[in-house]
Amino acid sequence: MAAAREISSDRFVFGCHRFGFGPAPGGGAVDVERHVVPMVKTALDLGIRTFDSAVLYRATLQLGRALDSMGVDPRTIRFQTKCLRYLGLKAGGAIEHQPDALLQGIPRRYQNLTDKWDTTPAGVEQQICRERIEFGGDVLHGVALHDPPDKEKQAGLDWAADVSPAIAYLRSVRASGFVERIGLGIKEPSFVERFVKAEPGALDYAGVTFCPSILGPMMSIIDLAAREKFQVTLMGINYGQAFTLTSDPLHHAPFLYNYEVATAEERALMSRFFTICGSTPLLHLAAAVAGLLAVHFPDVVTQIVTSTLTPSRLVETVKSAREAHVPAPVWAELKAAGLVPREFPTH
Ligand SMILES: NC(=O)c1ccc[n+]([C@@H]2O[C@H](COP(=O)([O-])OP(=O)(O)OC[C@H]3O[C@@H](n4cnc5c(N)ncnc54)[C@H](OP(=O)(O)O)[C@@H]3O)[C@@H](O)[C@H]2O)c1
Repeated sequence: MAAAREISSDRFVFGCHRFGFGPAPGGGAVDVERHVVPMVKTALDLGIRTFDSAVLYRATLQLGRALDSMGVDPRTIRFQTKCLRYLGLKAGGAIEHQPDALLQGIPRRYQNLTDKWDTTPAGVEQQICRERIEFGGDVLHGVALHDPPDKEKQAGLDWAADVSPAIAYLRSVRASGFVERIGLGIKEPSFVERFVKAEPGALDYAGVTFCPSILGPMMSIIDLAAREKFQVTLMGINYGQAFTLTSDPLHHAPFLYNYEVATAEERALMSRFFTICGSTPLLHLAAAVAGLLAVHFPDVVTQIVTSTLTPSRLVETVKSAREAHVPAPVWAELKAAGLVPREFPTH
């Protein structure tokens, strides 16, 4: 039995998106007392101190209410959120730029709205102040720009208008101490380098959706982070549903890969992982890779964000990141097949 990976509990972050979007386990709306309180309690019992949300998720009020109901002072936990991408009234030619696959998961009450991208200081201030009020604490541990690459893909991105003014405002509130860190919350790894070049000195943490199949690009981000002195947050380590599958992804019903429906090429890629992993669940591989990154790059890979509405699952995911075992021959085969970089430290 291999020794457990030493990852302190405060490196795990609980992702709040389902407090807003739901659904609750078994379907239906999320109820603060029934669903959010037990989830937050489990996270705190595990030693998790940081919670990750976004204006878009409509989840922060539920977190704040749960803390209030539990008598937990919000100033004793850390709260980080994401701005710009939020669901607002359709007006002034604003258009929806959620990926279609994600829209299906968004409750009816948020349909026919659009995600406005208001980078004026007043717009960003309004969004993050509302988050702070709903959460209930004093300062925000982080504010990330929420998915500028998605906006670019679907509605175009004019850096001077769509990014710079928001960053200028966030720099000013970081200087005043209201916001502790400026981040990114993105699904497109290559955006990190572009951002660092365009906004020198702004980035404190790059939150990137991550799974073993993008280890190559992730190692480059880690290198860049060490040089440029920012930290890396691994988000959504199952890449949507791709690493939860227990039958061959090639023939599986449609599933999400990096939060969009997997293409034929992505199915084939996942099928190669599945075949080589054999009896090792893909879920274990994803958790082990995230855990190994946290262990081997402790100054850079500082957060693993995970999320569920099932308390026992949170316990399981934290345990897996520390303990999931991938047999040496599986690592060797993944490396030989070019699915895991040869230099990746596997123990
Ligand atoms: N662009 C962005 O900024 C961005 C994008 C994605 C994610 N995020 C952040 O990352 C957080 C986590 O995202 P996520 O929940 O989508 O991540 P994830 O870790 O990829 O989880 C996705 C799926 O894995 C399932 N799962 C987890 N443990 C499992 C197990 N033991 N067995 C079977 N299935 C299991 C979950 O099911 P259940 O939920 O049913 O347990 C869920 O359907 C979000 O809350 C957010 O904070 C940010």
